[in-house]
Amino acid sequence: MPAIVLIGAQWGDEGKGKATDLLGDQVQWVVRYQGGNNAGHTVVLPDGQNFALKLIPSGILTEGVTNVIGNGVVVDPGALLDELRGLEEKGVDTSRLLLSADAHLIMPYHIAIDKVTERYLGSRKIGTTGRGIGPCYQDKVARVGVRVQDLLDEKILRQKVESALEVKNQILVKVYNRKALDPAQVADEVLAQGEQFAKRIADTRLELNKALEAGETMLLEGSQGTLLDVDHGTYPFVTSSNPTSGGASAGSGIGPGRISAVLGILKAYTTRVGSGPFPTELTDEMGEHLRKVGGEVGVNTGRDRRTGWFDAVIARYATRVNGITDYFLTKLDVLSGLESVPICVGYEVDGFHTEDMPMTQTDVHHAVPVYEQLPGWWEDISECRRFEDLPKNAQAYVHRIEELSGAQVSAIGVGPGRDQTITRHDIIR
Ligand code: GDP
Ligand code: IMO
Ligand code: MG
Repeated sequence: MPAIVLIGAQWGDEGKGKATDLLGDQVQWVVRYQGGNNAGHTVVLPDGQNFALKLIPSGILTEGVTNVIGNGVVVDPGALLDELRGLEEKGVDTSRLLLSADAHLIMPYHIAIDKVTERYLGSRKIGTTGRGIGPCYQDKVARVGVRVQDLLDEKILRQKVESALEVKNQILVKVYNRKALDPAQVADEVLAQGEQFAKRIADTRLELNKALEAGETMLLEGSQGTLLDVDHGTYPFVTSSNPTSGGASAGSGIGPGRISAVLGILKAYTTRVGSGPFPTELTDEMGEHLRKVGGEVGVNTGRDRRTGWFDAVIARYATRVNGITDYFLTKLDVLSGLESVPICVGYEVDGFHTEDMPMTQTDVHHAVPVYEQLPGWWEDISECRRFEDLPKNAQAYVHRIEELSGAQVSAIGVGPGRDQTITRHDIIR
């Protein structure tokens, strides 16, 4: 039985939380494979309860699902405990959450360095979430990281923190003019936090492979999005992991051959939080309209999201680099009431026309969108549950996105609620 990868096809916040929740009752496992608490995945339950999941997989809200924080995730132990507490206060059963022994820990010095680096970059800042994500992944690759399993060996943990701080304190004090951190205090704090979730630490790659061998089904829930991928995104304005489908195998420990479908979550327009190029960005009243109607404010940091028209160059690129088999097109309801709806079908770059993502970031920065105008629709579509119920022009918009992106749109979101979904094709098949 299959593993299905669910990824963001744009710059994050496409509606991955809603899509994961929707498919929750068709799978036994939900796995996060990269990123950390820089994510903010919204799930609105049928009773109207609203959840914003950051580090914990969105499957935690579905009874009977086992949730896994995989080896590719970076874990802030304090944030994990806060999130668990918040869920438990709302009556959610959190007993089915496992944490990979190989996941890396975000330490207080990672957060301090993330924030201070951004401040020093000034106008060239990335606009990170300030959660310590980049510095933690840097240490992982430099082979000086602290892992979840180190919480089970106090001596090793203390040694690692001490040697890390020998270097980090020099950077904090001498380069950034900040206070040094006390290694003993840092180690005491994380060890105390670790004790509270020690029972969840597991060899998750073994558990996941056993589950696949037993014929169980799993959803690998990506965070961020294709254009925030450190390899395939708008570098350097990216996150420090691989949200694309290729990251799912490495970040969970299951073989790529186990993956039977890749579901791309695609917003019916485009948004971005933080700095970096955004060819179809609207900085006028229309941009404000999309932000207002779409409620485009970051779940994690509360920052306003930048908004713009749908960009088919991005969708086509996402289809290719992820091997997308199906799209879940979200927020189509937000586009109701427009005279016409532009779709970007290509870019003009320094006198050249292209329908593909330019090779260099300089060209992405210089890309001027070429639009095709599609007629709009006036009806409120939030109550539509079948494709045929949608206004003809909304149907045509979806068909055009399928043509341009090169993958079928199997589900359509017409509101934030779980039931506000039009399903056209089974995704788990
Ligand atoms: P994620 O990070 O990809 O999980 O997305 P976010 O939760 O950060 O942002 C998506 C927002 O859109 C959330 O507020 C969702 O509740 C909301 N949402 C998801 N799908 C739809 C939809 O089809 N229509 C509308 N109006 N809102 C949606
Ligand atoms: P979800 O999973 C949107 C952005 C930040 C910044 C860049 C790097 O909810 O879609 P980082 O803190 O990761 O080093 O920041 O990536 N970013 C996101 N944007 N949605 C997210 O997650 C994001 N996670 C990080 O705004 O531009
Ligand atoms: Mg989000």
